[in-house]
Amino acid sequence: MKKVIAFVGSARKGHTHDAAAQFLRNLQSLGEVEVEIVRLSDYRIEVCKGCQVCFAKGESLCPLKDDRDILIEKMLASDGVVFAAPNYSFHVSALMKVFLDRLGFAFHRPRFFGKAFTGIVVQGIYGGNKIVDYLDFVGNALGFNTVKGSCLMTLDPMTEKQQRKIDKILTAQARRYYARLVKPSYSAPSLMDLMFFRMGRTKVRLELDDNACDYTYYKDKGWFESDFYYPTRLGILKKGVGQFFDMMFTRMTKAR
Ligand SMILES: Cc1cc2nc3c(=O)[nH]c(=O)nc-3n(C[C@H](O)[C@H](O)[C@H](O)COP(=O)(O)O)c2cc1C
Repeated sequence: MKKVIAFVGSARKGHTHDAAAQFLRNLQSLGEVEVEIVRLSDYRIEVCKGCQVCFAKGESLCPLKDDRDILIEKMLASDGVVFAAPNYSFHVSALMKVFLDRLGFAFHRPRFFGKAFTGIVVQGIYGGNKIVDYLDFVGNALGFNTVKGSCLMTLDPMTEKQQRKIDKILTAQARRYYARLVKPSYSAPSLMDLMFFRMGRTKVRLELDDNACDYTYYKDKGWFESDFYYPTRLGILKKGVGQFFDMMFTRMTKAR
């Protein structure tokens, strides 16, 4: 049995909530999946003050006391995650963004490997496709296996044609997501994934030391020596390209 949680970034039980619920129902029609909807508005999520203590010293020293860790625990305990947000002023809603900012340290120290991810953006008219790309990027940066998200048009009053289009999009997205959910989780990284990993670890290795949380996190995980975040077999080409990235980013970091 797989567990999937949808985090909904709309304060009302409107189209974003409905789309997330429909997506989860679609998943359940494909196999044994336990689902949960987390409405972010039901949780206390404080606005990040920008002190950067989480980056330097660790997230446990964050001065904000809110429900951040409850939400992170939920993600860690799941096999898959969905971020669903309305398009507000050409971006995710503030509610979703405040939540993402609370995960800022996890972009430095990714941890959600082996878990499926997708985004759902709900909008009236325009701007959502870029937000879908943004959420895809967020999913990758957090370490998830990202399945391309979708953008749904929900201009009220909804027509039957609009609803049929949404049904079609969410059915296809759920199929892609389910395939990812049940696939062995630790697949070989793409060249882009490899590049981001080698770039990040080179910067951390050369610019930080044992006093920095990012450094000890990388060290403890063995990431200064490993091919990638998790054990994987790189083909000869990727091994070579990986070495090239290491060399290039070492030069670039030293030249800074
Ligand atoms: C403050 C605000 C800003 C919005 N900005 C946009 C926008 O930039 N582009 C767009 O297409 N729709 C925009 N909308 C429309 C919403 O994305 C749309 O109504 C969506 O269905 C809201 O989701 P909900 O039903 O879950 O509340 C905006 C709505 C609000 C309330």
